[in-house]
Amino acid sequence: MVVAIDGPAASGKSSVARKLARSLGFSYVNSGAMYRAVTWELLREQIDPARPDRVEAALGRMKLDSGFSENGDSYIRINAEIPDLELRQIEVNQAVSAYSAIPAVRNLIGQRLRSMCQGLDVVMEGRDIGTAVFPDSPHKFYLDASPEIRRRRRAAQGQDDSIEHRDKLDSTRRVAPLSVASDAHVIDTSHLDIEGVVGHIAGILKGSGIPAE
Ligand code: DC
Repeated sequence: MVVAIDGPAASGKSSVARKLARSLGFSYVNSGAMYRAVTWELLREQIDPARPDRVEAALGRMKLDSGFSENGDSYIRINAEIPDLELRQIEVNQAVSAYSAIPAVRNLIGQRLRSMCQGLDVVMEGRDIGTAVFPDSPHKFYLDASPEIRRRRRAAQGQDDSIEHRDKLDSTRRVAPLSVASDAHVIDTSHLDIEGVVGHIAGILKGSGIPAE
């Protein structure tokens, strides 16, 4: 079973999804980390995102492995390395949306997300989980917050991240753009804390019999 949580940058998805996963005893998948890891490697290889043919060739050479750590969180290993803090580098923030718009990148990560979750109960967060990766999931949530509040949240994390620029690129790309699934529960997190959002989602899930009694 997949609980899909989508939304723009700094809408609170990661903290909420991880906490919700822990409380349900589900695994947690941060799909953005996969896009960031591939971006990090493509930047290291100096592959121009304006050349999808070169990106596709580089993906063909890349050794990717993904799975779950003991704590239930997803990881991605790329050419034998597991990037962590590197995923938040300013260069990655700046380039991730451009690489993520390339169909070959989306296909590779989309397939991996589906295959790594087979037979598992997961909470997965991203931009297109409810619309493209698991469109048949009956458990879809879309988190949002005002741009001002999202900017403040990023700044409080000490991150240099042009979130509005990223959101614009993510929601206007041709393949699987950030959008609200027609059957998603939309939650404005502007004036809610993490516990508040988790409690709200858990209440809706409970109404659908999750967790099983
Ligand atoms: O969740 P995040 O901010 O770490 O995601 C980083 C970028 O990855 C985001 O700006 C666009 C891309 N992404 C995507 O295209 N599709 C997803 N499901 C998740 C992330």
